[in-house]
Amino acid sequence: MVRVLSGIQPSGRLHIGNYFGALRQHLALQQDNQCLYFMASYHALTTVQNPQEMRQNTLDVALDYLTLGLDPSRTLLFRQQDVPEVTELTWIFSCVTPMGLLERAHSYKDKVARGIMPNVGLFSYPVLMAADILIYRSHLVPVGMDQKQHIEITRDIAAKFNNQFGEIFPLPDGYILEETAVVPGLDGRKMSKSYGNEIEIFDEGPDLKRRIMGIVTDSTPVEDPKDPETSTPFVLLKLVASPEEVEHWDQRYRSGGMGYGEIKKRLLVLLDEHFAPLRDRRRELAGDPDYVEDVLRESGRKARMMAHETMELVREATGFPISYAPPD
Ligand code: ADP
Ligand code: TRP
Repeated sequence: MVRVLSGIQPSGRLHIGNYFGALRQHLALQQDNQCLYFMASYHALTTVQNPQEMRQNTLDVALDYLTLGLDPSRTLLFRQQDVPEVTELTWIFSCVTPMGLLERAHSYKDKVARGIMPNVGLFSYPVLMAADILIYRSHLVPVGMDQKQHIEITRDIAAKFNNQFGEIFPLPDGYILEETAVVPGLDGRKMSKSYGNEIEIFDEGPDLKRRIMGIVTDSTPVEDPKDPETSTPFVLLKLVASPEEVEHWDQRYRSGGMGYGEIKKRLLVLLDEHFAPLRDRRRELAGDPDYVEDVLRESGRKARMMAHETMELVREATGFPISYAPPD
């Protein structure tokens, strides 16, 4: 059976870029595959260093997954720190990873270019991600476009390890849907928590309205024809509108006479309709922390057993098995 794995950093509330770019695929893949999804808290520690905030964000991500349809009877949903062996594997991988491979990572270079003072964790972030993926010997990794290079790095690390110590790891493939690979944010750049340009999945009321009406558009006069494909309100509308309605707005753009306010208002209605039915369910789950904790704990335990099996092979292959039985 194909083993699917992905992680989302608990570095804030999830936005519709996360949903259409990643989470929706995570949920769809549950039907026919063995899926493991986790809150990448060790990754988030490179930027979030407040324990209360980390706990709250982790719970928020878990609630979003469960609300949107993660089925805990078939899929594992867990916290990265519940499988501490990934950090051990990270060290072992660090020793087969050339510096140059990480120095070329776009995500690291972008963050440094934005003025973030990098810590060592941020630099070696892709090695930890490789350990996440490979410790469960995963085959498929559904993510948005920004993670593509990290999966290529994972394949390189797996190949280097296998070459040096024996074939333990399958080389995983990324799974990136072209139409939602990069969901734009309010300012037209990639929607991202770190740009503050997001529409949260569970935004509602005046907040949601303010965000949508604030989408940046160009200053083409109302009467002029416009190109829909480069226009953020249209690209976002395509995520939630029927094909007939998309066609309708496509025509309206191209024939001129349409103001951006009109499509924004319709986008507001459609987004609201899309997520509104789930808001009560989320509130219900938020009121049952014991249930959520049970899911995370039990999933973490199962994931750790899988990781443990891989680590036995890795320790044997690298030449330092642990010489005493693990404590109970
Ligand atoms: P952010 O950039 O907001 O910090 P994350 O890096 O935590 O988001 O992303 C979690 C998942 O959501 C990843 O698989 C990522 O590729 C995907 N994702 C994030 N932003 C977008 C976007 N704007 N469009 C498509 N996918 C996205
Ligand atoms: N780096 C990913 C992101 O920011 C999160 C992540 C951590 C991840 N480990 C992973 C994604 C393993 C896929 C597989 O979105």
